[in-house]
Amino acid sequence: MSYEKVLTQRTCYEGLFDTHFSMVNLDLSVPVQMLKNGTAPFKKLTRCNMGNPCGVGQKEITVVRQLIAACLSPEIRESNLIPEDVKARANVILSGCPGGNSGSYCATEGIEPIRVGVAEYITKQDGYPCDHNSVVLTNGATEAILSILRPIIRSKYDAILIPRPGFPMYNAAISYYGGAEVSYDLDEESNWGFSLAALESALDECRTRGLVPRCIVLTNPSNPTGTVQTYQDIQNIIEFAYKNNMLVIADQVYQHNIYEPETYPFISCRQVMLDLNKQGKCQGLELISINSVSKSCYGECGRRGGYWQHENLDAKVVSQLLDIVSLGATNTDGMIAMDVYCNPPKPGDVSYALWKKEYDAIFNALQSKARMVAKEMNGWEGLSCCVPTGAMYVYPRIHASQKAVEAAKKLGKEADELYCKDLVEQTGIVVLPGAMFGQKAGTYHFRMTILLNQGDMEEALQTWKAFHHAWMTKYQ
Ligand SMILES: Cc1ncc(COP(=O)(O)O)c(C=O)c1O
Repeated sequence: MSYEKVLTQRTCYEGLFDTHFSMVNLDLSVPVQMLKNGTAPFKKLTRCNMGNPCGVGQKEITVVRQLIAACLSPEIRESNLIPEDVKARANVILSGCPGGNSGSYCATEGIEPIRVGVAEYITKQDGYPCDHNSVVLTNGATEAILSILRPIIRSKYDAILIPRPGFPMYNAAISYYGGAEVSYDLDEESNWGFSLAALESALDECRTRGLVPRCIVLTNPSNPTGTVQTYQDIQNIIEFAYKNNMLVIADQVYQHNIYEPETYPFISCRQVMLDLNKQGKCQGLELISINSVSKSCYGECGRRGGYWQHENLDAKVVSQLLDIVSLGATNTDGMIAMDVYCNPPKPGDVSYALWKKEYDAIFNALQSKARMVAKEMNGWEGLSCCVPTGAMYVYPRIHASQKAVEAAKKLGKEADELYCKDLVEQTGIVVLPGAMFGQKAGTYHFRMTILLNQGDMEEALQTWKAFHHAWMTKYQ
């Protein structure tokens, strides 16, 4: 008798192999091998590929770790390592954990005092009261997205409208759940803003393909373009969603990464929707807003803290969804990190001065790098770059020649993939090709993070500039 594997590529759920998300497990075997066997013309890999701040040397903000440590261990909590205000907050948080212990399974929707703090943060931000019962704490934004998309997608005919370029996790999740992804193009000419024509054309695509548009995703600020959307753009999306009966997912994980707040402030989708509601418009629109502690100046990607906040969802759907989420339970460290994000030390607290110093240092560095990188790259022949007003990325366009496009084609690649491959193999600098995020046919981009420290960034740009010039000349 022979045993046949139950799980093979041929026999497993087909969605598994339809789903591609190679951002995290990028294949760097060639440059790594070059470094190993001493043939690399560079000394190390310079990682500008992932929005993973702590992974590229950003220092943690002390109070986050202090609060987690204080909730973790009574000895630490009672020691003089922890400032009094942090001890006090830890005690409030622990009062919301069963048994007063952060090691317990906590309520599915999250530890209550933290949800109250999140709701207060949202209330202050939007200028409209937020009930903490509409807040659900999650294992990062990813879990929120996965939980919410699941019940929206009933079959391959249910379409989710997503921005192009956009965060590829949405494409992956939609494929995994067997739904249909329909992209709406962001407009590079208007600094990657929304265009109503692009939204209408996505709707036309739904009609042609016989799809039911169920949901539209708005990412603000945007990954990968670094754009902070205007009030008018957000209003257009909301009105479009309402008119066409779609639920809105507002992915706002970069809401603290706002580099030109005077001209491009962050405006939440919820605020715009509630403004419209006040005028009697778009009432009852289902809106889910998402946030995370992985981004901002905290950058605690490994902590897995996030939340979703919902408006106008059917109560039975929410309760059933929470029942499913409870199968996995949300980790307490992530929730505690989210607590600091929404409820940081205040003037007068012992921990305030250090928090402010650390937070401002990270923010100022990000702001100055966002400005510096775009300015530098815009000076390079054959590259143009919208100045990022938010998030952690620049997304320049490579004006690749026909010769470069053809050379790439011979290798089965797009021109931006060839550019990124040559860049890493010649300089060790790792960035991601625009093909990974979606781009208009015939245009080529790459996404670079602005997370390296200033010195490393300047050094990388010098090496890169020489590479870039040589690459453009080669394919002239
Ligand atoms: C737009 C967007 N949403 C969600 C996430 C996922 O965040 P988290 O680490 O909280 O799961 C990312 C991560 O890069 C992102 O860019």
